Amino acid sequence: MEEEIELVLDKYRKAGRILAEVREGAVAKVKEGALLLEVAEFVEQSTREKGGEPAFPCNISRNDEAAHATPSIDDETVFGKDVVKIDIGVHVDGYIADSAVTVDLSGEHAELVKASEAALDAAIKVIRDGVSTIEIGEVIEHTIRERGYKPVVNLSGHGLARYNAHIPPTIPNVRYEHGAVLKENDVVAIEPFVTDGAGKIAEHGTAEIYSLIKAKPVRVHEAKKLLKAIEEYQGLPFAKRWLPRERLDLALRTLRNSGALREYPVLREEGGGLVSQTEHTVIVQKDGCEVTTRHP
Ligand code: CO
Repeated sequence: MEEEIELVLDKYRKAGRILAEVREGAVAKVKEGALLLEVAEFVEQSTREKGGEPAFPCNISRNDEAAHATPSIDDETVFGKDVVKIDIGVHVDGYIADSAVTVDLSGEHAELVKASEAALDAAIKVIRDGVSTIEIGEVIEHTIRERGYKPVVNLSGHGLARYNAHIPPTIPNVRYEHGAVLKENDVVAIEPFVTDGAGKIAEHGTAEIYSLIKAKPVRVHEAKKLLKAIEEYQGLPFAKRWLPRERLDLALRTLRNSGALREYPVLREEGGGLVSQTEHTVIVQKDGCEVTTRHP
């Protein structure tokens, strides 16, 4: 049993090491005038080259977008003087590393970025076997408010499991009255989101990211073929641009209408505020935690 746990944790660690390298390469590519699509494809390709698989499409969310933005097929959007969030997921045999970084291309929002970094650091310091998510939320909220910003209340950290990027416990970015207790060997992602806006996000526009909830019978040939391709992702999120292009819109619409897919529309700050995000994945230990996604 003990041995089995170690084997699993080693896969989480390997995913984390791959992610840390990929993230460093990606940050170097985030420059004014560079294509978003090039950065996303770099992240996903180099993940595979290093022996991992994307656990979800590379999210590139800018300014008041908090999450779930990813380039579309043949996307020609380039970076401007943006506040850029790069959120990356890597898995090894289903065991996931999840990490995000904010790059400020405006040169004017360093303090906003520092606030989410400091909140994450403060959270990591209190994580140990027996810690309550109430305490983690409190530390994150305090660190952010101390710096004159707001935490995004309806985005939170989360547990990770094999082929599942979002399981309980929820790890809030604010202090709630009720919480869960973390125990040794739990694997969780901590992700403070900070804003100078309203402190809340809402879904916006159409989705480029989907996941398969449950395959439902479909008669359209293209939809059947697409379903087969999608089943490869084992329930993890995928991007529309990853799919075979042949009659893609028809096939995707058919699957959506059958109720097989979950959609992930872009999440935007409700007050139009700028958002920064910093995220690491950690393994809870007796007296602390091990950050799997930090550069050694
Ligand atoms: Co996450």
